[in-house]
Amino acid sequence: MAILVTGGAGFIGSHTCVELQQAGYDVVVYDNLSNSSEKSLKRVEAITGKPVKFYKGDILDRDRLNEVFEKEQLDSCIHFAGLKAVGESVAKPWEYYENNIAGTLTLVDVMRQHNCKNIIFSSSATVYGDPAEIPITENCPKGQCTNPYGWTKSMLEQILSDMQKADNEWNVVLLRYFNPIGAHPSGTMGENPNGIPNNLMPYITQVAVGKLPELGVFGDDYDTPDGTGVRDYIHVVDLAKGHVKALKKIEENAGLKIYNLGTGVGYSVLDIVKNFEEANDIKIPYSIKPRRAGDIATCYSDATKAKEELGWTAEYGIKEMCADSWRWQKNNPNGYED
Ligand code: NAD
Ligand code: UFG
Repeated sequence: MAILVTGGAGFIGSHTCVELQQAGYDVVVYDNLSNSSEKSLKRVEAITGKPVKFYKGDILDRDRLNEVFEKEQLDSCIHFAGLKAVGESVAKPWEYYENNIAGTLTLVDVMRQHNCKNIIFSSSATVYGDPAEIPITENCPKGQCTNPYGWTKSMLEQILSDMQKADNEWNVVLLRYFNPIGAHPSGTMGENPNGIPNNLMPYITQVAVGKLPELGVFGDDYDTPDGTGVRDYIHVVDLAKGHVKALKKIEENAGLKIYNLGTGVGYSVLDIVKNFEEANDIKIPYSIKPRRAGDIATCYSDATKAKEELGWTAEYGIKEMCADSWRWQKNNPNGYED
């Protein structure tokens, strides 16, 4: 039996393939490569020494999905495939709702027709909106999302939960990621954003490598210790390992489960700049800019539930996250194009 990894060529998916293979699972990747390169899978193979079965296809393409389910013995699906750029989702809401929601509806329909009723879904801390409590536990009410991307995550959580309630043969694990950064410590795999990065860490690494002149810090007047936004950054390898633990939960027929995947520690934008500079001995020039629309002041997790129920805790610290992000960028200034 193998695990279907939709979006497996992407940033988190490819790192998860490494951890799955190293834990002894066979993986089948399904990705339309709209935001990734097949080369990431070659790097997975180089690290694990095992082949990765790959099907190029779209989660909206029912025929192609049926073909994969007919050819492969698939037990569970880890569903990463989706569009994820917050700003783009505001400009192209229909495209986001179609890709993420219609795509997931098609995927789960094909899954159930093939009696594959185990799914781990990539959700996000964004479903908490402006959180009612900090640190954020899974009991914190979901909030008002500030963009269509966030709504796709929130709505898909609802859809998958309702399906599980109606048919308890389904096992559904919703993983709410906080802010994934870092890269595989080998320096051969990492995040490969298209164009100018929107997220903090890839922006910093592109400043470090000389592609961008300076970092703009979006606001220094938040109600936080230094005025800049505070987030829960988590190393992508830790995040990937969380999926292997979630799979074990599914194997126990866990029904519906929801977990935060974060470290439980918040760092400000200026903390990240300082840690990056110290870890890598590189200066990051920055200037203070106005707040970015839709940003909140503080977002970090209470990571207790995943520790207690999954036996999972993040192991990498912020210095390792900064060092690994930089090793990847420095060795691969043009991502997988090098
Ligand atoms: P990514 O863009 O690197 O990976 C997503 C992958 O899905 C890409 O390889 C892309 O080609 C593929 N894809 C997109 N639409 C598809 C479709 N219709 N059919 C088939 N493949 C498709 O992003 P990532 O950072 O690895 O994120 C993985 C998942 O985690 C996403 O669902 C994202 O929303 C979620 N998430 C990411 C973050 C983050 O900050 N990176 C935070 C919370 C949640
Ligand atoms: N920031 C800057 N300058 C930049 C980029 C970001 O100051 O050039 C700041 C932001 O204002 C924020 C922090 O750095 O305070 C982190 O911003 P990111 O864009 O890296 O991450 P977000 O917390 O805004 O959102 C990310 C993903 C979402 C996901 C969320 C989960 O982009 O998809 O984490 O917590 F939902």
